[in-house]
Amino acid sequence: MTDRLTIRRPDDWHVHLRDGAMLAAVAGWTARQFARAIVMPNLTPPVTTIAAAAAYRDRIIAALPAGTAFTPLMTCYLTDAADADEIARGHGEGVFTACKLYPAHATTNSAHGVTDIFALAPVLERMQAIGMPLLVHGEVTDREVDIFDREAVFIDRTLTPLVKAFPALKIVLEHITTAEAVAFVNDAPDTVAATITPQHMLINRNAIFDGGIRPHAYCLPVAKREVHRAAVRAAATSGSPKFFLGTDSAPHGVARKEAACGCAGIFNAPIALESYAIAFDEDGALDRLEGFASEHGPRFYGLPLNDGTVTLERATVAVPAVIGEGDTAVVPFHGGETIGWRLVD
Ligand code: NCD
Ligand code: ZN
Repeated sequence: MTDRLTIRRPDDWHVHLRDGAMLAAVAGWTARQFARAIVMPNLTPPVTTIAAAAAYRDRIIAALPAGTAFTPLMTCYLTDAADADEIARGHGEGVFTACKLYPAHATTNSAHGVTDIFALAPVLERMQAIGMPLLVHGEVTDREVDIFDREAVFIDRTLTPLVKAFPALKIVLEHITTAEAVAFVNDAPDTVAATITPQHMLINRNAIFDGGIRPHAYCLPVAKREVHRAAVRAAATSGSPKFFLGTDSAPHGVARKEAACGCAGIFNAPIALESYAIAFDEDGALDRLEGFASEHGPRFYGLPLNDGTVTLERATVAVPAVIGEGDTAVVPFHGGETIGWRLVD
């Protein structure tokens, strides 16, 4: 039995670091675990310009102790008004690593999202030409569609034609939750990859209704049936370079989760690698965690692998029920539970 595992320093290819007091409260958790992170742009207002992304990047770095070795990789939030020149210039200047597509009204702060992705063809053509990845929140927003079907319907209605229309565009289907998404990504060209969160490897939709309504198990895309969890987990542990780590850590203050209409999002940053280790370990695939966490992502993005390592060890760890205070008090994933892995400092 492996009790200690040392892997190349990993990256988080999908995280919400927020802004202001919440940024200050959460940024260190991600920087402790990861060398780089793709930072989601769904602030209020969203990050749509080079200036806004550069300023946000500065605020992230300022929120960390001086000298912290952490590189935030910034994203541009696509809107119907997205401008190909601004996006290409931002990519060229090293400010925008990728663009994020939120279908309008799909999730938190996505009111500004895109109503018709095909209307953005000039932007997508430019991204394709310069090798800039498109990161997709893959759910339809049609309220007639059952919430558990919205990812699969998005794949049929939008993603399949999108991949056909832009065959050289790098596309990451973010936080996949279904067997349909796994099959789609596996069958797609090498330009298409997916990120996988720890929660979608560890919980199915029963967790949201376990003896009562469990707001801290609610995120978007919502966890699906067990058969889907198993398919997503098999993809993550398969060793395929198309699947890589993206936590989708999405902190919301306790009061915003425990409410009549609670926000979507699971805060997993404090125990992200530990959570992945639990799943890979249970599946006898710890030898594949390094590829998933530290190699497949940079290779897809065309970025160098990190130097240095992190070490995980088998240990009994009590995860706090709440992390932080006041408005930044957040219930973490596994809050109040005991887990079997620890990231060694
Ligand atoms: C995210 C958030 O809170 O910003 N929530 C979530 O459940 N994942 C938004 C998102 O990425 O969908
Ligand atoms: Zn997200």
